[in-house]
Amino acid sequence: MNTRETTLLAIESSCDETAVAVMRGFGSLLASGIASQSGIHERYGGVVPEVASRNHLLAVSPLVENVINQAGITWNEIDAVASTLGPGLAPALLVGASLGKALALSLEKPFLGINHMEGHLLSPFFGEAEIPPHTGLVVSGGHTLIVDVKGFADYEILGRTLDDAAGEAFDKVAKLLSLPYPGGPEIERRAIEGDPTRYNLPRGMQHSGDWNFSFSGLKTAVRYLLEKEPHYRVEDVAASFQSAVVEVLTTKAVNAAKASGRHILAVSGGVSLNGSLRAALITLGKEHELEIRFAPASLCTDNAAMIASVAAHYAARGGRTAIEEDIFPSLGALLSPVDFSS
Ligand code: KG4
Ligand code: ZN
Repeated sequence: MNTRETTLLAIESSCDETAVAVMRGFGSLLASGIASQSGIHERYGGVVPEVASRNHLLAVSPLVENVINQAGITWNEIDAVASTLGPGLAPALLVGASLGKALALSLEKPFLGINHMEGHLLSPFFGEAEIPPHTGLVVSGGHTLIVDVKGFADYEILGRTLDDAAGEAFDKVAKLLSLPYPGGPEIERRAIEGDPTRYNLPRGMQHSGDWNFSFSGLKTAVRYLLEKEPHYRVEDVAASFQSAVVEVLTTKAVNAAKASGRHILAVSGGVSLNGSLRAALITLGKEHELEIRFAPASLCTDNAAMIASVAAHYAARGGRTAIEEDIFPSLGALLSPVDFSS
């Protein structure tokens, strides 16, 4: 397959965003659309898998039509179809996986099953044909990972959260503070007006000597604090909480990069939109002579462009996924279940 001309249709439905993208080559995003369900799940304070699944089913077909029209292509210009196969909510994954496979079969084109976390991991290099060696910090709603990336499809997970993900901690603390879901952007907004030194909250596992994280103790500490001090200022709690999360994430990621001898630290996932996290990383990057790469803002939270981008790398290596390949709700490895020649 000639990569430059490969046109990919990608579908993402692992959580509460239905997303579709059409990409040509490595970086030419012809169209990308997202139908967000966050308004639907807000009243539950989190994503309800069955509700997500039903709403993906309603949204996905019109979105595919729409994105293809926006891309200005016809169906027979599509060279391969990619869907996220995991990790994520099983009933939600099934919608995008089934449609992607059905489209690939009917168009008689290869199917590519993509790992959502590989999508986040490589998103800071969107549009680039080569993935340089680097340390990846992936901070999303479901996962917190430090990864040693030797190159494309050559990853080693160095550390992960042992309980809550960083984004999950933002969401749970926001709920304790009666702030809307998703909590990350709300906490960041409130924290701007707050004093980050007002409460000394625990920096879990900061000195554990490995690259793992734990955020559930921090969340529990916030709960106790709110019970003990009913007249708290939301802004101060938000700022103190955010500063604890940022300190642990940045210290560990920078140390992991240095210990691995990497010169680039690439940061991705929904939490990487956080301005305080970005500022802290930029400062530390200068101090430690590390190049800090962020994913473009539109690719930090869930989207199909990052799925198309990973699929393009596999397609360039003649990759394809058997149509029988199952979805995988849990994260095992970061590789996508694609047969390809490296
Ligand atoms: O990567 P993502 O869209 O979804 C998953 O794959 O999980 O990440 C969503 C997470 C949510 O937990 C949300 O609260 C968090 O990213 N988030 C933020 C910010 N924007 C989104 N966390 C902190 N600060 C933000 N500005
Ligand atoms: Zn995600």
